[in-house]
Amino acid sequence: MKTEIVAAIYDRRRRSQTAATERALQLLRKGEIVALPTETVYGLAADVLNPIAVAKIFEAKERPRFDPLIVHLPNRDWFDRVTQIRDEDRKLIEKLADCFWPGPFTIVLPKKSIVPEIVTAGLDTVGVRISAHPVFTQIIGAFGKPLAAPSANRFGCLSPTTAQHVLDELDGRIPLLIDAGQTSHGIESTIVVVHNGKIDILRRGPITAEQLSQFGKIDIVSSAGKISAPGQLPVHYAPKTPLRLIEDATSFSPPEKQRVGLLAWNPVRSEENFLAIRRLSEKQDFREAAANLFRCLRELDELDLDLVVAERVPSQALGAAIMDRLERAARKDD
Ligand code: TXA
Ligand code: MG
Repeated sequence: MKTEIVAAIYDRRRRSQTAATERALQLLRKGEIVALPTETVYGLAADVLNPIAVAKIFEAKERPRFDPLIVHLPNRDWFDRVTQIRDEDRKLIEKLADCFWPGPFTIVLPKKSIVPEIVTAGLDTVGVRISAHPVFTQIIGAFGKPLAAPSANRFGCLSPTTAQHVLDELDGRIPLLIDAGQTSHGIESTIVVVHNGKIDILRRGPITAEQLSQFGKIDIVSSAGKISAPGQLPVHYAPKTPLRLIEDATSFSPPEKQRVGLLAWNPVRSEENFLAIRRLSEKQDFREAAANLFRCLRELDELDLDLVVAERVPSQALGAAIMDRLERAARKDD
C-alpha cells in the first residue's frame, strides 16, 4: 500500500483545511485508517463504530489486542452516548471535562454497549477525550462520530510528534497521513479514572497532578503496579539505543570506547564526552521540553550510538510527565 501524505493547509477563503479534511473523510467513511495530528502526538484514527476499521489499527501498529484504544469524541453530546457515568461521580467528571476539554485529557469511564469490544480490548470501561487540534477537530466534526485513535507509532515505540515520525514507522501500512507540522504538547494526554471524589492518574501528561489536585484527592497509580491501564506496560516508550538516566552530565564519565549521546536538561558544559547532544529546552521550560522530548530521543536513536544518557528533569508539574517517559524508555536497558 502506498501512503499518501496531504498537508493540512489552511484555506483562508473557505476557513478550513479543505483538501486534507475531504481526503481523510473519504477514507474514514470507507472504513480505512488515517494518521491525524492531535495537540499531543499524532494519532492513528478509525471509525469507533466499525470494528473492522478498528482492527486495521491493531494490525498497522502491531499492537496486542489486550491494549485498549482511546476514543475521541466530536463533541460533548457524545459523552453520554458512549459512557455510563455513576451519579455520585457525575459532578466531578463534568467539572473536569468543562475545565480540560477540548484538550490533552482522557477520562476512563464505564462504557455503553455502543462501543465495540475490540476498541476497549474487552474491558467494561472506555477512555474518552475531546481533542483541541484544529485539523483533528474539523475532521472529526465533519465525520460526526467518535474516532478511535492511539498514537500513530508501532507498538512499544516512541509516539510520533511529526508527520515524518509517523512515516518512519507506518509508511506503506496506512493509506493516508495528514501533515500539520510538529504537535504542540509533544507527550500523550493525561489519563485519569474518577471514583468517589478521588482522581487516579493512570498516565501522567500535559494536565499535571498539581492542576488536578484542585478538584479532588489525587493518587498516582504506578505504572509497574496495577494494570488497570493495560497499556501502562513498564516498557512502552522505548528507543532502540540503551538509555540511562543520570543526574548531571558534568559528573558523568562515559564508558571507554563507547559512543555516547546526551539528552540534556542542564546547560551543557562538557561537550567533548558526547558524540551528539540534544538539549530539551534552552530556557529549561517544561512545555518546550515536553514538545521536544520524543523528537530529540528519536534523533539520538538514529545515530547508531552505544548509549544515550538523559539528565533527570525536576519531577514537578509537567516535569513529572517527562520523567515518566524517560524512566520507561530507560527501563528497557534493565
Ligand atoms: O494523547 C493521546 O492520548 C494520544 C492521542 C493520539 O490522542 N493517544 C494515545 O493513545 O496516547 P495510546 O493508545 O497510544 O495510549 C492510550 C493508553 C494506553 O496505554 C491504553 O492502555 C490506555 O490508554 N487506555 C485506553 N483505554 C483504557 C481503559 N479503558 N482503561 C485503562 N486504560 C486505557
Ligand atoms: Mg501509544
